[in-house]
Amino acid sequence: MTKIIIIPGSTRTGSHNVRLAVAIKQALEATDADITLVDLSDYPMPIYNGDLEQASGAPREARDLAALIALHQGVVLVNPEYNASITPLMKNTLDWLSRDMGDVKPYQNRAFALASCSPGALGGIRALNHMRDTLISIGAQEVISPQIGVGNAANAFDENGNLAVERSKNMLQTYCDRLIEAANRYA
Ligand SMILES: Cc1cc2nc3c(=O)[nH]c(=O)nc-3n(C[C@H](O)[C@H](O)[C@H](O)COP(=O)(O)O)c2cc1C
Repeated sequence: MTKIIIIPGSTRTGSHNVRLAVAIKQALEATDADITLVDLSDYPMPIYNGDLEQASGAPREARDLAALIALHQGVVLVNPEYNASITPLMKNTLDWLSRDMGDVKPYQNRAFALASCSPGALGGIRALNHMRDTLISIGAQEVISPQIGVGNAANAFDENGNLAVERSKNMLQTYCDRLIEAANRYA
């Protein structure tokens, strides 16, 4: 079974991006994939600092998360847009994960997919573009298209936590199909 890990870049109570992560999880589970949904509160990491790394290497939480990612063939990053870019929580996590983890290489041999949800109209599209650039610069082998930007978050979900708007639902179906197809190449 295809193993996909979903990592939201917000730990806020009532986060729209966690809601989107749950909608993606539900859609992927309908395709029989095995899904892990991460809460980054469980992996608290200090802001990256080279002195810290030199003194004691990457924090245990970064190594644990890298090892967890390495068990999956697909990684979905669901990230809010902050000032047209990636949240500091997600960027700090990606930065630590880009450092030497020995044999564990969380960016290699798996497919990445991107998503964002915003109360605004643009659905976090600018953060998605920055995220894609960051992943490619780190050496992620594959970042799939399409990506999902869900705007107007207040009206985006139905009572079961699925996407409410027909066009978004269709987009999510295509997204899940492409992700599973890509992830299966790393099985
Ligand atoms: C510092 C900051 C900057 C923000 N910048 C943007 C932005 O550039 N574009 C946007 O659509 N929303 C922006 N927002 C609004 C967020 O999209 C909104 O707070 C969203 O609910 C955060 O995601 P979450 O609900 O998953 O925590 C910003 C919010 C904060 C706190």
